[in-house]
Amino acid sequence: MTVRPAGPDDVDAIAALELEAFPDDAWTPEYLQVAIDGKMPTVRILVAVDDAGTVVGHALVSVVYEIAELQRIATAEEQRRRGIGGSLLAASIGLARSEGAERLLLEVREGNVGAIEFYRQAGFIEIDRRERYYRDGATGIVLAMELAGPTATSG
Ligand SMILES: CC(C)(COP(=O)(O)OP(=O)(O)OC[C@H]1O[C@@H](n2cnc3c(N)ncnc32)[C@H](O)[C@@H]1OP(=O)(O)O)[C@@H](O)C(=O)NCCC(=O)NCCS
Repeated sequence: MTVRPAGPDDVDAIAALELEAFPDDAWTPEYLQVAIDGKMPTVRILVAVDDAGTVVGHALVSVVYEIAELQRIATAEEQRRRGIGGSLLAASIGLARSEGAERLLLEVREGNVGAIEFYRQAGFIEIDRRERYYRDGATGIVLAMELAGPTATSG
């Protein structure tokens, strides 16, 4: 399995993963295409690809000066707990660092216990809670990782 920047041929596979992982607010193929074409200057998309060339996960990262935001990360449902999410996260951290970010932020649904545990294991710390952050009224938990300090995960 390798992680690489997404290209135009990956749009359909990423869109399918978006629908599977985020059915309520999936990025559309059109939106993904614009991002992959570089027309959203702060947004980067990474894909995890298995040995057969199949996209098995993706991550969306945006970097604005010293703050990076992990907008989402997803692994194909049947491929979870094999380290793919961890590889995507490590690559996202590496990307954020290479673009000068000092802090990586993300929001996760309060009820998304699997993802919260995934981020906790990776070293993210809760810094805030935003009530009714999501359209359905769910609370968002804001997590942060310092990229400049000695405790940051290497990527
Ligand atoms: C969160 C997600 C990306 C994790 O991807 P993954 O490929 O399964 O992650 P990894 O295999 O690298 O997991 C690394 C570690 O995180 C923790 N972890 C991951 N998923 C977990 C779960 N569902 N429950 C508890 N711990 C979990 C474990 O410690 C795991 O190590 P282990 O398998 O050796 O115990 C995946 O579950 C997913 O796509 N979820 C749906 C989309 C989503 O909610 N994304 C996050 C919000 S943006």
